[in-house]
Amino acid sequence: MNLALLGYGKMGKMIDGLAPEYGFTVTHRLDENNNADQSAMTPESFQGVDVAIEFSTPEVCLANVRRLAELRVNTVVGTTGWLGQMDEVKAMIAAAQTGFVWSPNYSIGVNVFFRLINEAARLLADEKEYGAWAWEIHHDTKLDAPSGTLLKLVEEMKQAGYARPIDVSSNRAGRHPGTHEIGFDSAADTITLKHAARSREGFARGALKAAQWVAGKRGFYEFSETLFPKK
Ligand SMILES: NC(=O)c1ccc[n+]([C@@H]2O[C@H](COP(=O)([O-])OP(=O)(O)OC[C@H]3O[C@@H](n4cnc5c(N)ncnc54)[C@H](OP(=O)(O)O)[C@@H]3O)[C@@H](O)[C@H]2O)c1
Repeated sequence: MNLALLGYGKMGKMIDGLAPEYGFTVTHRLDENNNADQSAMTPESFQGVDVAIEFSTPEVCLANVRRLAELRVNTVVGTTGWLGQMDEVKAMIAAAQTGFVWSPNYSIGVNVFFRLINEAARLLADEKEYGAWAWEIHHDTKLDAPSGTLLKLVEEMKQAGYARPIDVSSNRAGRHPGTHEIGFDSAADTITLKHAARSREGFARGALKAAQWVAGKRGFYEFSETLFPKK
């Protein structure tokens, strides 16, 4: 299968190196230098592309996604920082009738972590003596803060019925690939739940699994739906 990479930074390059293991031939490696204003994304140049993986910047992600929908290319998006435009993207994908997978985090462990946090928040929702915090740290070149993953964790807690305030904070320093921590604290005790990524490789492998999954499908999916289908 032919794979187009939108964004050729740290993630794009790692996906490029692993793509052959997943049966993909990388046909496009697009970044700011060769794809300003989506100039490299034409019907002619994208003929034969089966799937695109988009890891770029919050500023250009939406324009790339729009053009991919117009080109009717199924897409996996890993870029974060555009959550506010989710409804617009859903409408685009529905109109184009393409396949689309999104996640703020393609690590399998983090997708299990989302479920664990949801359950902890549900169990503590009515235990009013417990307060909660949400914290993350990433490398100093990450553009958005809080991370999309932390926002998703907070959303999971709210959806689980945890309605009290959640104190959210972020750090940016050095080369950290990403740690997320959710804590609950009362006068009696503290619960700390933490996920630490060891490298970017887990994100890259997850995105490639999502690309295999979405090839030939239609609809808007979160990565967790492809990992843990509803019974
Ligand atoms: N979902 C996940 O699992 C996950 C994991 C890690 C990271 N992320 C997110 O993925 C995104 C990328 O991360 P990264 O670490 O790879 O960042 P990065 O190293 O800064 O790479 C961003 C890339 O986007 C490129 N770009 C800029 N304009 C473009 C355009 N018009 N078309 C195509 N590409 C363009 C940049 O090109 P230049 O180099 O030419 O400027 C650069 O190659 C971030 O939003 C990050 O938060 C998500």
